[in-house]
This record gives sequence, C-alpha cells and structure tokens, in this order.
Amino acid sequence: MSRKTFLKSGIRFGIFLSASQVLQYCKTSPNDRYDYERKNPFDPEFLSENISPILKAIRIGITAPNPHNVQPWKFKLIDDYSALLYVDEKRLLKDTDPTYRQIHIGQGTFLENLSLGIQILGYSAEVSLFPDGKYTIADIGKKPIAKIVLIKRDDLVQNPLSEFISERLTRRSIYEGEDLTWQDFEKIRKDSAVLYSELKFVPKAGSEKLRNQLIAAMQAETDTYNTYEESRIWFRYNDEEIGKFKDGLSLRATGVSGLKYYFARNFFLKPGAESWHSPENKKAGMDMFTSQVESSKGFIFLKTDHNEIIDWVQAGRDYLRLQLAATKNGFSLHPLSQILQEYSEMDLLRKEFEASLKPGEKIQMLVRLGKSDYHYYSPRRDPKDFIV
Ligand SMILES: Cc1cc2nc3c(=O)[nH]c(=O)nc-3n(C[C@H](O)[C@H](O)[C@H](O)COP(=O)(O)O)c2cc1C
Repeated sequence: MSRKTFLKSGIRFGIFLSASQVLQYCKTSPNDRYDYERKNPFDPEFLSENISPILKAIRIGITAPNPHNVQPWKFKLIDDYSALLYVDEKRLLKDTDPTYRQIHIGQGTFLENLSLGIQILGYSAEVSLFPDGKYTIADIGKKPIAKIVLIKRDDLVQNPLSEFISERLTRRSIYEGEDLTWQDFEKIRKDSAVLYSELKFVPKAGSEKLRNQLIAAMQAETDTYNTYEESRIWFRYNDEEIGKFKDGLSLRATGVSGLKYYFARNFFLKPGAESWHSPENKKAGMDMFTSQVESSKGFIFLKTDHNEIIDWVQAGRDYLRLQLAATKNGFSLHPLSQILQEYSEMDLLRKEFEASLKPGEKIQMLVRLGKSDYHYYSPRRDPKDFIV
C-alpha cells in the first residue's frame, strides 16, 4: 500500500497518525528496505568491507529461501576462501518437517545461492557434498553437508540468474495479472535450467481439485496443535521482534501491509498460545490462505526420482534456480508445502495427492505463481552469528 492510499483510507476510517507512524506502515517505493529487512548482499558498502571472500559469500548464501526462515545453517571457516556447511541442529522444524527433508532442501538453496551469487564477485565455488562420507539423519549438526572452496577466475562467464539474487523473495500476497500460459512456464523452465529434478506445470484452468487439496492441507496443519504451534514459535509479532530476532515469519511476510497491517497488528493479533489457537485467529489465517491460493495464476511442482537426503539437497539447488528464473520473468512465487509434509495427521491427504507418483518419486516443492508488487525482504541474522 502506498503512503497516499494509506493516508486516504486512514482519513476515511478516522485514524490520526503521526508522520513517523505513516512511515512505519508504508513504503514510498518498492525498492525501499526498512532497517529490519534483509540487506542487499551486493550493496557496495558490504562489498568494500574488509572481510574475507568466504564471509562475503556466506552473506550472499544466507539470503536463500529456507523453511519458516529459520536459517538452519552453521559454518566452520577453513581459511579466507573455504568453509564447511552444517545444518544448525538448534533450528529444526520437528513438527512440520519430522523427516528433516525441508531443512535439507534449505541446505541446497543456500549452496546454489552462494554459488551463483559469488560469481558476481569474480569467483566460482567448488562444492563437494558430504565431504566426511556417508551422512544420515543422526549426523545432523555433526557431519558437514558440504565443503565450499572459492576460486578466483578471470575468465568467468556469469550465470544470468545471479543478477536476480538481490530481488528474489517469497511473495505471499494476493496475485494479480493473467493466468500463466504454457509459454510462460517454458520460459521459466528454460531459464532455470534445473539440474537434478523435473518441473511440472499445472495451469490455473483445471486446478480446482488441487486448490481444494491445498486448502484442506492447510486446514489440517492449522487443526493439528503441534504443527500450528510451531508456526507461532517462529512468528515475530511486531517490527521490534522482527528486528531483534532477524528470523522467522511475520504478518509483513504474509503480505499484509498498510492499514490492514495497522489493524491486525494493533487490534487483533495478541501474543500468546491461547489467542493463536483461538477459533477466530485460525479462521482469519484460513481465510487469508484461501484467498491467496484462489488468486494463484498457475502452479509448478518440482519432482525428483528418488527421495534420499542427497535428493533433498539437490532439489534445494534446483528450487533456488526456479525461483530466480520466475523472478527474471516477472513472476512471484509462494511455496505451499503443507500437503507434502510427512507427519501423521497429513498422511491421508498427502498419500491421495501423491497417488500418481511412481515408487520412490517425491514432489519436493509445490509453488503457486502470479504477479504482485508487494515487497518485504525477510530479515537475516548477521553472517558472523552463523560461524562456529
Ligand atoms: C523447503 C521450503 C519450504 C517452504 N515452504 C513454505 C510454505 O509452505 N509456505 C510459505 O509461505 N513459505 C514457504 N517457504 C518459503 C520460506 O518461508 C521463505 O523462503 C523464508 O521465509 C525466507 O523468505 P524469503 O524467501 O522471502 O527470503 C518454503 C521454503 C523452503 C526452502
């Protein structure tokens, strides 16, 4: 919402706000970033800082998409040009992600974001997966996911997707514009040049069954105490909390801005489990989700032939490419992971949804697409806080 529209609506509702409050609720331009938002890792001020290339690479990498914005990464620096990546075992989503599949997709998104982004600084990144050998779930946090080595190159040909890293974001707002066509999908597929998985398109026309399944899955997540509670634990209620924790989800991340944000934040959203799990709050959440899903202009799945830890990491690398390619083509994207999740209350819905897959195959990511100019760059912690 622009300041002008916000002020007009405010006057209509008889609200009087100081100039600083208006500034707090609206942006003047889509390029504005508030202090609590993620910084552009290619900002000249950052690039000129006297820190090692590997720290600069990590600063780029951690702007990657990751489940609930928990930022599940930790690093051991080897020298100025190399580091080991580990899952941060203190930042898991045990209820919505009991198999840790999505946390490992988030390792892949980081690796791809770093590899593409560091090209802008003239380096290529050599990534060796599981450098300490066989890795199982019991090794989370103990054995590295990858060793990253940066190599300076004069002859580097930059991947065109790299340029879209700073503007990439997850948009959960209502989508506008035309329905996605097969030609739109083909452009995105070609630009993403995914390496390990297959992309499938579901046009808006004929997607009614899918939309109903997605909404039913969100209802199941909402009605399951632990999974809905997990979202509360990672929910930042106001801008002070966003700025303090620099992680998690928030109303702003949900695509609520302007006057709606002002009302929701000040009058409806009360901290604490009781209010979160109240029928009114659950209904408000479901209403918002339903309108988001119904506004979708098309859907894309990312499917792998196998479903081992390595497939999760590789799928994450491909997902990052898919999101950058969508950004390049002017489309917004929002994952809808509920129906893919592996906890018992979701089993029935998930199995029905996956019924057409061959044994071993898995849909790793499912996203809705469309157009929206809503901007919110979810925050990231300081890169130094990730170093062990
Ligand atoms: C494996 C994975 C699953 C995700 N699932 C969802 C989801 O179900 N719903 C959603 O709104 N966002 C989902 N996201 C997006 C993240 O919440 C988002 O990347 C994170 O909050 C950081 O925000 P950003 O992408 O704007 O930087 C998912 C991301 C990943 C990598």
